[in-house]
Amino acid sequence: MRDEIVAGLEKPQKELPCKLFYDERGSHLFEKITMLEEYYLTRTEVAIMEENIGDIASRLGDRCMLIEFGSGSGEKTRFLLEHLKNPAAYVPIDISKEQLMRSAARIAATYPGLDILPVCADYNDAIQIPSSVKTVDRRIVYYPGSTIGNFHRDEAVDFLRRIARICGPTGGLLIGVDLKKDPAVLLRAYNDSQGVTADFNLNVLVRINREFDADFDIDRFRHVATFDPSNGRIELHLVSLADQTVRVEGAEIVFEKGESIWTESSYKFTVEEFSKLAFAGGFQTKKVWTDDEQLFSVQYLTTHSDIDA
Ligand code: AVI
Repeated sequence: MRDEIVAGLEKPQKELPCKLFYDERGSHLFEKITMLEEYYLTRTEVAIMEENIGDIASRLGDRCMLIEFGSGSGEKTRFLLEHLKNPAAYVPIDISKEQLMRSAARIAATYPGLDILPVCADYNDAIQIPSSVKTVDRRIVYYPGSTIGNFHRDEAVDFLRRIARICGPTGGLLIGVDLKKDPAVLLRAYNDSQGVTADFNLNVLVRINREFDADFDIDRFRHVATFDPSNGRIELHLVSLADQTVRVEGAEIVFEKGESIWTESSYKFTVEEFSKLAFAGGFQTKKVWTDDEQLFSVQYLTTHSDIDA
């Protein structure tokens, strides 16, 4: 992480990886974001799942192994698990061991017949999926939240190809994908009136000061979210409010007033655009569920033939 941080800050457009958001405070702030009125994504995804759960469950079929990338508290998954037909196994994957074990224990208590196989790992790294004692007809990866939008295109394709290999020829992917819409709606979602997203973004600097040898003055940076229509993405930046020099792990990082650190991209897709991306990643789109306003989508994809290419 140390080298990645310094290398990112030494680029002409300074940048930091968005995985830095999720320390304890950042994860808590993200939870708060998902409950904001302006942040339509989470509640719309939940509503789509609730509205279509019968159809979703029958597409996932009998005896699936449900593999969840970034399972967190596992709360959203319970609803899905409750409706699946004889699920064989549940594989929650999360980097936070404490949270992972707590949620695995809770789910085990509710579903005694389900084989629970928690994996403590960063799902961006190579992952070995444990085998189940149960008969598994199909591996299904569950990746809600439109987190796929936080990857640049080539990274998203590589990531999907990794998922496709995990799923194998009979498997599928149930994924949340945020849709393109009026930029004003998008900008509100990433510039909320209570400033929670601003705190979430600035927390990256708090974390770097705490965990690395750095002296960012948090009050001299400001959260900015913009929409880039040509790339179809929201960008989060931390803009320097002054000419200043910051010391990070022995490197001197010079900021001009107005210069920014790019901390996150959140890509938005049309259904067709995502379908093309998914195809390059080894998947074909089988079904897309959306809300009445077409704000968000939940999609079911299955692997296509050349996933090993
Ligand atoms: C996790 N991810 C899908 C969120 C998003 O909307 O891109 C992260 C986020 N960044 C700012 N607000 C929420």
